[in-house]
Amino acid sequence: MLVIAVVNLKGGSGKTTLAGHLCQAFHEAGMRTLGVDADGENESLQSWQAAADLPWPVITLAVSNLHKQLPDVVGDRYDVIVIDTPPMKAQRGTVASAMRVATHVLIPMCPSPIEHDRLPAVRELLDEVADLRPDGKPPTHAVLLIKVKPRAASTQVYRELMTDAGVTVLNAQVGDLERFRQAWADPMTGILDTAYGAAAMELLDLTDRQEVSA
Ligand SMILES: Nc1ncnc2c1ncn2[C@@H]1O[C@H](COP(=O)(O)OP(=O)(O)OP(=O)(O)O)[C@@H](O)[C@H]1O
Ligand SMILES: [Mg+2]
Repeated sequence: MLVIAVVNLKGGSGKTTLAGHLCQAFHEAGMRTLGVDADGENESLQSWQAAADLPWPVITLAVSNLHKQLPDVVGDRYDVIVIDTPPMKAQRGTVASAMRVATHVLIPMCPSPIEHDRLPAVRELLDEVADLRPDGKPPTHAVLLIKVKPRAASTQVYRELMTDAGVTVLNAQVGDLERFRQAWADPMTGILDTAYGAAAMELLDLTDRQEVSA
C-alpha cells in the first residue's frame, strides 16, 4: 500500500489541489484510493469530496498521532492513500505524524524564490522523523513543480538548484492553469491525461525503483 503525504511549510501552496488530483488520477488508474484530510482547520479535501460527489472516499483524520490511528482505521482496503496535510508551520505535529506513516512525501512548489526558500524546513522535518520510522530513513520524497509559466527560464533554474542539492524533482510539472485554479468543488475527469496524472504515475515508478534497489 502506498501512503502519499502532500506537504508544504505554508498555507496556500497548492497542497489540497494536488491531493485531490492525485486521488482522482489513482482512481482513474483503477487503484482503490482513499483521501485523508488531516487539515482540521480547512477540511478542504473532505468538502471537495462532498460537494462534487467524487468517486473515492475521504476521511477526516486531523490528529497528531495519525501514524498510530491510520493503519487501524484503513486496514488493507486500499491500494493508495493520499494525505492532505495542514501547513507545517502551524501544525508541525500532525505533519510529522503523516511523514512517519508515509511511504512517499510529495512537496508542491511554485518555482519562485520565496517558495524555494521554504524547502529546507520541510527537509529538516523529514530528517527529524527518520529516527521515528521503522526503517530509520526518511520516506521517499520529491518536489512537484506547480503553477509553472510557459517558457519561464526560472523553472529550469530551480529544477537544477534542487537537483544539485540532492532533492528529487519529478519530471512532470504542472502549469498555472485556470482549469486547476477552479477545480475545487468540481468533479474531475480525465486527470490521468494531465500533468497531475503524470506526477501520480511517476510516483509509482519511484516506488518500483526503490523496490528494485532494496
Ligand atoms: N496548478 C494550479 N494552477 C492554478 N492555480 C492553482 C494550481 N494549484 C493550486 N492553485 C490555486 O492556488 C490556491 C491554493 O491552492 P490550495 O488550496 O490547493 O493550497 P493549500 O496548500 O491546500 O492551502 P491551505 O493550506 O490553505 O489549505 C487556490 O486558489 C488554488 O486554486
Ligand atoms: Mg489545503
